[in-house]
Amino acid sequence: MHLPKATPPPGPSPVREGRLDLVQLDADHPGFRDPLYRARREEIARLALAYESGTSVPLVEYTREERETWAAIWHALRAAHPAHLCRRVREALERLGLNGESVPQLEHLSARLEAESGMRVEPVAGLVSARAFFEALRRGVLFSTQYLRHPSQPLYTPEPDLVHEAVGHAASLLDPQVAALNRAFGEVAHGADEARMLRLERIYWWTMEFGLVREGGEVLAFGAGLISSAGELARCPAHLPWDLESMAGREYDPTGYQEALFVAPSLERLLGDLGSWLVREGELSRAS
Ligand SMILES: [Fe+2]
Repeated sequence: MHLPKATPPPGPSPVREGRLDLVQLDADHPGFRDPLYRARREEIARLALAYESGTSVPLVEYTREERETWAAIWHALRAAHPAHLCRRVREALERLGLNGESVPQLEHLSARLEAESGMRVEPVAGLVSARAFFEALRRGVLFSTQYLRHPSQPLYTPEPDLVHEAVGHAASLLDPQVAALNRAFGEVAHGADEARMLRLERIYWWTMEFGLVREGGEVLAFGAGLISSAGELARCPAHLPWDLESMAGREYDPTGYQEALFVAPSLERLLGDLGSWLVREGELSRAS
């Protein structure tokens, strides 16, 4: 999803100069032809792979270029946020205390989350399956990448990076009700068959990643994929009527901007309906 981000995908990895490449970039990735960027991605991936669950997350010493990339993105987001975010997300972002001067560290985000909602953050190296992502949520853990997108395109990333995790997911998970719902996704996913996993992935996508809500006569952003992307916030996707079963049956495209999104009548309805849906889905899962 903006879900899966963690360990290298299964299967053979190409060997380059006698060593394994942990990080696979597609040929159209902005960093594909940049050996320094690829080496840096490898370095950060190795840090994550060396991490032991439950321990402190080692700090990453970000380079000047990475700090500049972060600052450019942060300032673009700060400009877009006031007009586009729903109130609870705006307030959560303020409490999270991010700034353009320093790239957020997972250890600091984790401590903040633990104090407010009991969630923690653990680093991952690359893609993980949706099942692994949900299993981590069940333990109260957000799997997060630590790398930044390629500096040539600071407002675009073909894959979730630290900006998405910190500005999107960490801010969302600061809210205890949102954190509880994320854990509930993990509970329902635990032992779920493939058909139910697909329903869960889609519902997560259309709510936690790309949910919109009505508030004060406007349609505002709630989802992590929206609040972490100035590009998404500047767009006007078509609005789909709020219906969880429609979401569960609707495919999503993680490769580009979203063309149509579901709009909840309010944030309270989004969270309340989602909670009820997860309870029912859990009951169905246990009965099957
Ligand atoms: Fe995400």
